[in-house]
Amino acid sequence: MGIRNAGWLAWAALTTLIAVCVTLAGCPKAPPQPPAGTAVPSPTVAAPKPGETGRIVIGFLVKQPEEPWFQNEWEFAQQCADKYGFELKKIGTTDGEKVMTAIDNLATAGAQGFVICTPDVKLGPAIIAKAQQYKMKVFTVDDQFVGPDGKFMDAPYMGISAGDIGRQVGEACAAEMRKRGWKPEDTSALCVTYDQLNTAKERTDGGTAALTKAGFPADRIYRAPEKTTDVDGAFQAGDTMLTQHPKVKHWIVFSMNDEGVLGGVRATEQHGFKPADVIGVGIGGTSAIAEFDKKEPTGFFATCLIDPYRHGYETAELMYRWIKDGVEPPQDTRTKGTIVTRETCRKVMKERGLLD
Ligand code: GLA
Repeated sequence: MGIRNAGWLAWAALTTLIAVCVTLAGCPKAPPQPPAGTAVPSPTVAAPKPGETGRIVIGFLVKQPEEPWFQNEWEFAQQCADKYGFELKKIGTTDGEKVMTAIDNLATAGAQGFVICTPDVKLGPAIIAKAQQYKMKVFTVDDQFVGPDGKFMDAPYMGISAGDIGRQVGEACAAEMRKRGWKPEDTSALCVTYDQLNTAKERTDGGTAALTKAGFPADRIYRAPEKTTDVDGAFQAGDTMLTQHPKVKHWIVFSMNDEGVLGGVRATEQHGFKPADVIGVGIGGTSAIAEFDKKEPTGFFATCLIDPYRHGYETAELMYRWIKDGVEPPQDTRTKGTIVTRETCRKVMKERGLLD
């Protein structure tokens, strides 16, 4: 006899016993329960349709899920979901096709909206159109949608104060260069660029403006466009540039993010430069921390710490309130940055709740 049948028999016996008991002795009328593990036919429950259950589902789509910055955004967005009790669907969308599929899947899951850092800002119109088709709300983070006219699109956005942060980077490079007593004629700056993304261009333009304002010769700032915004992409760009300028003795390295500067610094190492001859200043913090934790300092001197808590938790919270209470989020929010070094990074991150 199978275990299942044995269970059913036992349940039947128990049911009979209780029925007799109720009749004869007036026991409480608790319905008999089948033994654990027994398969019982249950009424069919219809799957919830989007929006029917009062359940809130929010997507959080990021362009580079392998980058610590985006993992941090997800972590803080999840904290927000846990606090308010909504469901968060974290999806890595590295290209346009993945974004479109993700939106379809979100609709199936009953999502009412999503926060997105798009893999390509020109996808903005297609993303908005698809979201509208499903009546989903869209909040853009980090990278701002650009319409066919080249102008930013009308969608709530939270990004860093890119120009200011870039200028802080340039000033930090210039100050450290003065401290090290480098002569301008021996020094050049490697600026790893990604001009097709506005927030990236504003950052490197800000760095360039601050450096030249501090007296650094503009014609010694070499712009190296990276094909991909990761360490490898920046390394390739930096390697080519360093090969073209073999006489430079000291290098300043700046870019749109920590990855850009890490790649540039790795290229200087490849070309035999010691940390004392390199000043790299990034933008981010989460990727810089592993570099600062290395036993010996590298050419990655400092970073401008930005705020994944605000970009993750706050964007998710604004989306939640928008869905639940109809509160429209602000159209344009810019977050600030703070320069930190190997000595101060951990401390400042802890103070801001960005590290345990
Ligand atoms: C862009 C960059 C990320 C990060 C964010 C911050 O998306 O690709 O590395 O700097 O901006 O907003």
